[in-house]
Amino acid sequence: MEDPLKPQGQEQSPVQIRRAEGRDMDALLTIEQQCFNVYYYDYYLLDRRDFEFYLEDAETLFFVAVREAPVVGYILGAVDPGRDPPRVHIDSIAVLPQAQRQGIGNHLLQAFTAEARRQGCRRVTLEVSTANTAGLAFFTRHGFREIRRLPGYYGKGLDALFMARELR
Ligand SMILES: CC(C)(COP(=O)(O)OP(=O)(O)OC[C@H]1O[C@@H](n2cnc3c(N)ncnc32)[C@H](O)[C@@H]1OP(=O)(O)O)[C@@H](O)C(=O)NCCC(=O)NCCS
Repeated sequence: MEDPLKPQGQEQSPVQIRRAEGRDMDALLTIEQQCFNVYYYDYYLLDRRDFEFYLEDAETLFFVAVREAPVVGYILGAVDPGRDPPRVHIDSIAVLPQAQRQGIGNHLLQAFTAEARRQGCRRVTLEVSTANTAGLAFFTRHGFREIRRLPGYYGKGLDALFMARELR
């Protein structure tokens, strides 16, 4: 059956999803600057130390999307093994603007949820700004539903939605 989330039409080089590594740092920082330099996330840009923390944290699932060598996107979030079943929370996902709407976010999310499921997680959660129309559309398309609104979560009166999706 045809995958409805797969890009149709123009031919694209294949995208590879692999674990993030220290050598990806420059690319990750570039993605962060290009994807999150918007008014509703300006306190939330990850810096080198944040990425180093996630790279070293054994409980964080951290994948990059690679197309023709450059890293074009990433997803990261930690598994909470203290819960039964363990839960997983997406802290961030981003795809370079010029590589968006080509199914790369979909590939990253699939890799992430497959690994989370393999580790026993039954639910994945995240926060997204109500101002982030692309993010909201992306997560809704992938079956996330609003659990509750978080007033002022991003400061300056900007709210977030706490969203969840069951992993079956
Ligand atoms: C959200 C994000 C990661 C999506 O990545 P992507 O690679 O463009 O997503 P995909 O190409 O896999 O999109 C899959 C589907 O999601 C929906 N979608 C994605 N971006 C959308 C947009 N800008 N507007 C409307 N729907 C969108 C569509 O249904 C899309 O399928 P289609 O292209 O066949 O219509 C990307 O927009 C991004 O990096 N945004 C900036 C960072 C960010 O806001 N991250 C989320 C908060 S942590």
